[in-house]
Amino acid sequence: MSNLIYILNGPNLNKLGTREPEIYGSQNLEDIKNACKNLGDKLGLEIEFRQSNQEGELVDWIQEAGEKAQGLVLNAAAYTHTSVALLDALKTLSIPSVEVHLSNVHQREDFRHKSYISPGVTGIIAGFGAASYDLALHALANIIKS
Ligand code: DQA
Repeated sequence: MSNLIYILNGPNLNKLGTREPEIYGSQNLEDIKNACKNLGDKLGLEIEFRQSNQEGELVDWIQEAGEKAQGLVLNAAAYTHTSVALLDALKTLSIPSVEVHLSNVHQREDFRHKSYISPGVTGIIAGFGAASYDLALHALANIIKS
């Protein structure tokens, strides 16, 4: 059985590297993608890594992950704090899912303390920079293999 993991990234994450590096670090999304693929190889996970600035496209991809993948990592970025549509999409899933954030959203502005999507995921990882993605892949690998 293939262990396919979708890693989906929301708005403005295509600007990582130059976007507020004091908060999000100096790695760009391509660096994070390559690190995820390398870790995926070690953990026996096949990685499908995507980014979109469009909420509806992210909804489509979450639904697609539910049909094709064994796990989902989602950094919904600003849609975390606004999107009932992403929550509803996550609630359709029967595969494990991890909400990730590079930054510790709870140390930041009040509006970032509320996540609309948290009730729809298996677990949450925030605040470890690019390593948040690595931790999410380890979590999914443990669930899938158990
Ligand atoms: C983010 C945190 C969000 O609040 C923000 O809108 C982002 C990135 C993070 O990875 O820390 O775009 O999801």
